[in-house]
Formats: sequence, C-alpha cells, structure tokens
Amino acid sequence: MEDILIVKGGTPLYGSIRVSGAKNAGLVLMVAAILAEGETILDNMPRIRDVEVMTFILNELGVRTEWKDDNSLAIYSPPGRIKTKTSYELSRMLRASNLFLGALLGREKEAAISLPGGCDIGSRPMDLHLKGVQALGAEVEIEHGYIYACTKRPRGNNVYLDFPSVGATENIIMMAVKTPGNTVIENAAKEPEIVDLANFLNSMGAKIRGAGTDVIKIEGVSELKPVRYAIIPDRIEAGTFMVAGAISKGEVLVENVIPTHIYPVIAKLQEAGAVVKETESGILVKAGDKIRPVDIKTLPYPGFPTDMQSQMMAMLCLAEGTSVIVENVFENRFQIVDELKRMGADIKVEGHTAVVKGVKKLYGTKVRATDLRAGAALILAGLVAEGETVIEEAIHIFRGYENIAQKLNHLGAQITVK
Ligand code: EPU
Repeated sequence: MEDILIVKGGTPLYGSIRVSGAKNAGLVLMVAAILAEGETILDNMPRIRDVEVMTFILNELGVRTEWKDDNSLAIYSPPGRIKTKTSYELSRMLRASNLFLGALLGREKEAAISLPGGCDIGSRPMDLHLKGVQALGAEVEIEHGYIYACTKRPRGNNVYLDFPSVGATENIIMMAVKTPGNTVIENAAKEPEIVDLANFLNSMGAKIRGAGTDVIKIEGVSELKPVRYAIIPDRIEAGTFMVAGAISKGEVLVENVIPTHIYPVIAKLQEAGAVVKETESGILVKAGDKIRPVDIKTLPYPGFPTDMQSQMMAMLCLAEGTSVIVENVFENRFQIVDELKRMGADIKVEGHTAVVKGVKKLYGTKVRATDLRAGAALILAGLVAEGETVIEEAIHIFRGYENIAQKLNHLGAQITVK
C-alpha cells in the first residue's frame, strides 16, 4: 500500500505546475448530481482518494459512475427511487458523505446518514445542517450513529446560520432546490465552492440567487435536468504550490488558478517577502531573499482559509522572527505542530493560537500526516529540510491532492512514494 512519502530536501523548485479541479467542489457536485435523473458529466474532476470513496457511496445508493477519461466522471442517476441510507463503513472515511442529507431529502424526501468521519481536525458537529433541513420541514431523529430524516410536507423557509458553515449551506441549498416555495439562507457560507454548486444547479434548471454573498435565495423547482459541467480549480492546491515555490527558494508558475479565490494567500505570501505576480497563464511566485514573519487569522471566506493554515505555518517556521497564527475555524488543527517540532521547529500553542519562532533550519526525520493539510505542509517542510523527511500515513495526502509527488517532482523536487 502506498502510504509513505519520502522527501529529500534542499532543491529549489522551478517551472510551471497545473492545478487540478477543486476537491471540495467536486465532492458536493457529485452528490448534487443525484438531484437530476439521467447522465451528468463532471469535467476537471480530480482523481483523488476522496472522490473515489464518493463514487463508492454513490454506487451503494444505486447510482452508477464511470470515468470517461482521465478527469471526466459520468454519474448515471437512475429514474425512480434510489437507496436512501449511507453505510457506516464508507461514511466514516469521508466527511462530505454528510452532504447526502440535503440531496436525498431533496430527491427522495428521506435520508438515513451515518454520522460522518473524515479528517480529525475538531468535533465537527451537524447542528446547523439539522437546523436548516428542519426549517424546510424535515423531521429528524438521531439514533445508533445515524441521522434519520424525512419530510412529508417540505416547504421553503428562512434559515439563519449562526456560523457560515460550508456543509450546512450546501445541504440546505440541495434540499431547497427541490422544495416548493422560497428559501432564504442568511449568514450563508460564501466560499467559491458554494458558488460552483449554485452555478451547477442553476445550469440544471434550479433557481438560486445570491451565492457568494451572505444571503442566498432559492425558489424550489419540480425538476432538474442532467448537464455537463466543469469544476473550478482547487484554490487550496494552488495555494500549496505557491508556498512550495516560496519556501524552496525557487520560482514557480501556478497554472489554472482563479486569482480572486486566493487573494488572502497571495497577500500573506507578499507580506512574507515573496514576489507574487498575476500573469496571463497563472500566478508566478518567486521566493524573497528571506522569509519575513507574518500573523495569520483563519476565517470563513473571504478570510484566510483554514485549509492553508498548516502550509503557511511550515513556511513561517523558517521566518526571520516570530509569527502568530490564530485558528478560528477548526479547534484541532494544530496537530501538525508536534510533527514540525520533530523537524526542529520552535512553536508554542496556547488554545487557538500558535506562536511560531523562526529557526535557521529544519531537519528531515520520521513524521506523520495527521490530516490532509498537515500532510501537505510536511511535504513543504521536507522540501527545505536537511536530509530526508519520511512522512507516514501519507494516505491523508492522497485523499485531496492529485499526483502530488509527480507534480512537484516535475519542478525538481525529490519525492518518492512507498
Ligand atoms: N460547525 C458547527 N455546526 C455545524 C457545522 C459546522 O459548529 O452544523 C462548525 C465546525 O465544527 C467548524 C466550522 O463550523 O468549526 C466550519 O465548518 P464547516 O461546516 O464550514 O466546514 P465543512 O463543511 O465541514 C468544508 C470543507 C473543509 C474546509 C471547511 C472550511 C468540504 C468537504 N470540506 O468543511 O475542507 O476546511 O469547509 O472551509 O467541503 C479540507 O479540504 O482539508 C477540509 C477540511
């Protein structure tokens, strides 16, 4: 089993690298595809482990999937009823399995969802998802690790989210598009993946306005038609490659990016001394003479993304000075700290705050990918560490990054998969 990555440090990265389709858009679009009967084709779909698990869940529900070519996935949503219960075995491997709650309620008016797993980055409750579907008329019971929901008289309604949760916003949208009447989501998540979901559903015939703002308005329709649709590029993969250029003291052109999606990352890299330029073909990142310390606070979009926090932390370990990182989105996203410390980093954590004191050097050693983004950050640290960094449990990295070793090796990195 390919579960170990070995990174030989010390080579600056040069050249261009192409970003794949967005994991978190791809996953929700795969689920949303069940809202129409017939063949949906999703282009620009990344070939990653999470997408593979999502195809297994679809298959289990009676929805066939087939790769048309490298990155085009066909989803055949059959007419009539499909199964409405997701299995524990698959759901525990993938947090996004919780998105079947809204989609199955939209399509079948009932859903039995195994409480989801995924990265261990915090308690990740579902209260806001439940509040949303209940407002639209679902009755919900939680028993033996399952959420059972059904709705006899679904109706549009106003839902205020106490926190702009990405998953809750997506679940409510997917239920509301097939629910009679008008639904208004206030304090909705504004992430680009939400906009991609709305664009996809609107191209199928849904009536969604305001995606990308705090207020999303949905008018329910009775039928959606299958379409062919291309997923947006992955802003977090793009950000990870940008940091790779800056941390390795190289110069990297990141292609297939929507720059507005990653402005906070661009801004922080510039503050840290990197030269970042938008060009016609992508974003060019050139390392500065030294890495300057910067402070970071993670926030929902358009704030600094929590999914880029670990990668920036890896870079700031080598800054000339002290950086303060505050994690406001997930309570348990500092597990990487112990791993970076094993490589020689000087980091202190107090609650949601990490104080990163720059050191002159990191050293290769055995470390563990505690979650997807932590794993990516360890690769980045390994690129500049002295000697070899052996990353165990690399499966977490393959959940979300397509061919990451091959892509970085193309820029001169020396990464082997074992
Ligand atoms: N939250 C609640 N109650 C809820 C839902 C969320 O308290 O009912 C809290 C969570 O505990 C967390 C915060 O709200 O503290 C943010 O959670 P959110 O629901 O916004 O996140 P998510 O939908 O579970 C998605 C991405 C994550 C990404 C976050 C934030 C997918 C499949 N996952 O998760 O991606 O970090 O939004 O942007 O879309 C990753 O790709 O590495 C990843 C973890």
